[in-house]
Amino acid sequence: MSSATGCSNQTQIAKLTVEGKEFELPVVVGTENERAIDITQLRKNAGYITLDDGYMNTGSTTSAITYLDGEEGTLRYRGYAIEDIAEHCDFVETSYLLIYGKLPTANELNDFRESIRRHTMIHEDMRSFYNGFPRDAHPMAILSSVVGALSTFYQDSLDPHDARQVQISIHRLLAKLPTIAAYSYKKSIGQPFNYPKNDLSYCENFLRLMFAVPTEEYDPDPDFVNALNLLLIVHADHEQNCSTSTVRMVGSSNANLFASISAGICALWGPLHGGANEACVNMLKQIADDGCNVQKYVDMAKDKKSNFRLMGFGHRVYKSYDPRATIIKKACDKLLGRLHLTDPLFDVAKKLEEVALKDPYFVERKLYPNVDFYSGVIYRAMGLPVQMFTVLFAIGRLPGWIAHWVEMHQSAATKIGRPRQVYTGANLRPLIPMKDRT
Ligand code: CMC
Repeated sequence: MSSATGCSNQTQIAKLTVEGKEFELPVVVGTENERAIDITQLRKNAGYITLDDGYMNTGSTTSAITYLDGEEGTLRYRGYAIEDIAEHCDFVETSYLLIYGKLPTANELNDFRESIRRHTMIHEDMRSFYNGFPRDAHPMAILSSVVGALSTFYQDSLDPHDARQVQISIHRLLAKLPTIAAYSYKKSIGQPFNYPKNDLSYCENFLRLMFAVPTEEYDPDPDFVNALNLLLIVHADHEQNCSTSTVRMVGSSNANLFASISAGICALWGPLHGGANEACVNMLKQIADDGCNVQKYVDMAKDKKSNFRLMGFGHRVYKSYDPRATIIKKACDKLLGRLHLTDPLFDVAKKLEEVALKDPYFVERKLYPNVDFYSGVIYRAMGLPVQMFTVLFAIGRLPGWIAHWVEMHQSAATKIGRPRQVYTGANLRPLIPMKDRT
């Protein structure tokens, strides 16, 4: 296990007794007093591995990027409360904080913005890739393919051990992901691709890439810009989740940054992870179309014979209200109020939350709304199509993935990710000749 800043394993020892023999295991304590038993030498010393399906209780690394306390509903990036960051920073500033570990000075932030602005276009040959995708391709599939393909265009910056090459790849990725994402939408509706406009902010530029058409002027709505900025910030990192762990795992083989991020996008796509925002809105729509019978769906989610789950509910780590959901719900209320909009899905969501939070099934299992529960309602209000919701999550999560990939490569403790297993298959048996097989 690594000994990153703020970690100590000097004083405490855990003892494990197996087959009458006692083994001492170092205890690692984090800066917020989280405790872990370091089992890296256990197999060597005792002949045992640990077994933990789904990594329910396994720390894969030490990390100084994001702290979350699932019981208290606390989330901090680099020590700063998510609520403070959401109120005072923009997404690019948050990205800098996550990746470089400190809040930027005005000059540092200007330089960072400037560099990202200069890389927003994608290679013209890359634009032609989009002609090869079916019109109805899911944009997450396009996103991961095109991000992976960046490694074919930028072969000059693939070495994970060359700091200069890593820097340029980071800036290219942050700059190009919104362009790549917006083109997948334009492709799906048959509209021409817009070029990025570098005098616009990150979020303004993305909205323009998505919604502008050559025949009309387009001015992004400042309320949409602010809402998008907030949503990207609250999605920016969440420590060792499925996609981030994927990015670290792929990166641990020394695969380049583009390949690692492309793998992370695939992991995010699943409906138990980032795909939950799309699945959640589809579920809310289904409930609304079904006469808003919220109780029926709560009952279905409780029924172990049904595969149905309340999407946007529950979390591996949060056993109280997800702080990101609190921020998003407030923003949702504000945006709909400002636009004088009523969205029946927002009403269904609020009702569903109310009923579920009083139900003993959800109370006992500590299942609360998560980040994906209300985000889709805001995206809908902004006119974003439902298939793009998880893409928006990916744009938001990008700086977190990058920060973890960089941290992993900077740690002396990093080894290729390679879990072990307990084999439960057949013992050695003689090969059956074809004529005797049944
Ligand atoms: N609806 C109904 N029951 C649920 C739900 C749900 N959404 N979530 C968990 N449970 C039940 C589950 O059936 C189990 O019950 P029992 O103890 O009787 O077997 C218990 O709660 C514990 O669930 P689990 O599946 O063992 O918990 P987990 O930590 O493996 O899964 C989760 C976490 C997020 C995958 C799960 O809560 C879920 O499937 N939620 C719906 C999908 C979702 O909203 N995902 C987004 C997560 S937040 C953003 C992100 O990470 O991308």
